[in-house]
Amino acid sequence: MESETDMLLVVDDEPIVRDVLTRRLRLSGYRCEESENAFDAMKKVERGDFSLVLSDIKMPGKDGISLLEEIRSVDADIAVIMVTAMPDVDFAIRAMRLGAYDYITKPFNFEEVLICVERALEKRTLILENREYRAKLEEKVIERTRELLEKTRQKRKLLVNAITSLAYSLAVSDAETEGHSRRVAASAAAIAGRMSFSAREIADIEVAGLLHDIGKIGISKEILKKELSLTASEYEDVKKHPLTAERILQPIEELGDSLKLIRHHHEHYDGSGYPDGLRGEEIPLGSRILLVADAWDAMISDRPESGPLPVEAAIKELEINSGTQFDPDVARLYISMIKGDNKDSPDVKR
Ligand SMILES: [Fe+2]
Ligand SMILES: [Fe+2]
Repeated sequence: MESETDMLLVVDDEPIVRDVLTRRLRLSGYRCEESENAFDAMKKVERGDFSLVLSDIKMPGKDGISLLEEIRSVDADIAVIMVTAMPDVDFAIRAMRLGAYDYITKPFNFEEVLICVERALEKRTLILENREYRAKLEEKVIERTRELLEKTRQKRKLLVNAITSLAYSLAVSDAETEGHSRRVAASAAAIAGRMSFSAREIADIEVAGLLHDIGKIGISKEILKKELSLTASEYEDVKKHPLTAERILQPIEELGDSLKLIRHHHEHYDGSGYPDGLRGEEIPLGSRILLVADAWDAMISDRPESGPLPVEAAIKELEINSGTQFDPDVARLYISMIKGDNKDSPDVKR
């Protein structure tokens, strides 16, 4: 039994009381030490191997209540029992409020002392076991949550891979479009990583990047290639692609917030975009990020009609259209990332 190895400390300024208590406690199988005052008691307690302290309340120098408070500040797991003369019951009750396990009134019957010590040690063991159990439980919950998150992440990854390859094998158009989507996804996730998004939100933005143009599945390759000379009705067709994407992906509930980000990836900061003409903060921040990443990739890629823009000219475009087409904060952050002065530019707050 654990009580056989428990170390007890008896603190009392009266040598006879200490002597009787320690002798009787040792006879009952406890290891026992004694202190004649609170100062000596604290020195022993700080050594750290006591389970229980039996302390007188009225002692010269420092009283038992102060000792109790000090013991609890050093090690709240030590059970403290106060020993008091009858007229001090009020003190004893105060001590209980301060965390003492119990109190014994003098003159005491040793059987009562023993029961009181056993009860306090049992209570202490229960508290310690309960805490250990809770800690293990918490550990298990954390572990399980991590596993579930990992499974969800893998499931989403599988799903997105399946949708992406399906979309591109049906040939939204070609490998070029697929490369565009992967680059947009990577840049958008990198921008989001510099803002205060959660890992889950960054994953949603990345997935939205991968799938943002999937709605182009219904548009002919010829139209998609003529970027600069579209007729008004052809342009109307192109403008449908965010809504088409939303319709295609709607049944896949695992996509969560990505859908909303895809729907709004062509909204402009000044409200001139499509499909809903949202402006400023009405546009989900993830969509404002996608727009910058999308435009950047389109500008620096080998475009069918105009070829790639040099990086400097593309940066200029981002700057010129900042505040009208692009969210100025996002554009500024991305420009600083492109220029590689990441360390000097402050991260943007959402
Ligand atoms: Fe698009
Ligand atoms: Fe795009």
